[in-house]
Amino acid sequence: MVKLTVNGTEHEFSGDPDMPLLWYLRDIQGLTGTKFGCGQALCGACTVHLDGAAVRSCQTPVAAAEGSSVTTIEGLSPDGNHPVQVAWRELNVAQCGYCQTGQMMQAAALLKDMPNPTDDQIDDQMTGNICRCGTYTRIRAAIHQAARLQEAAR
Ligand code: FES
Ligand code: FES
Repeated sequence: MVKLTVNGTEHEFSGDPDMPLLWYLRDIQGLTGTKFGCGQALCGACTVHLDGAAVRSCQTPVAAAEGSSVTTIEGLSPDGNHPVQVAWRELNVAQCGYCQTGQMMQAAALLKDMPNPTDDQIDDQMTGNICRCGTYTRIRAAIHQAARLQEAAR
């Protein structure tokens, strides 16, 4: 039995503890905002937060979330207005959109640790999140914008 919290709600899972957290979130919890890309921790599409840190849910077993708190894009903010989400909308970052929830979850974790990141820090922290549409320039601009929004809200 794995006990974990997902987006603020406690759950118990009696299935295979080795099941990828991504399958648990999508297939058991119905949280389909988190995407499957490579399945090998190489693209970042499946990024969620585990106790506030960005992790690749495709290569994280459910058991690793025992006693922990998982946050998905659905739980990033109560109303879709996390500074990252606002900035992403303001700068029209998404193209096809497939990678973008992972990008936003990685960016949100980055801004928690580095409230005012440099370009180099952004590139370093975001390098594992692949975008086949090449939205990297807008992603970087949106992270700077989100940093400003986050600072203004303080
Ligand atoms: S699907 Fe998890 S990193 Fe690509
Ligand atoms: S927006 Fe299409 S893969 Fe990133």
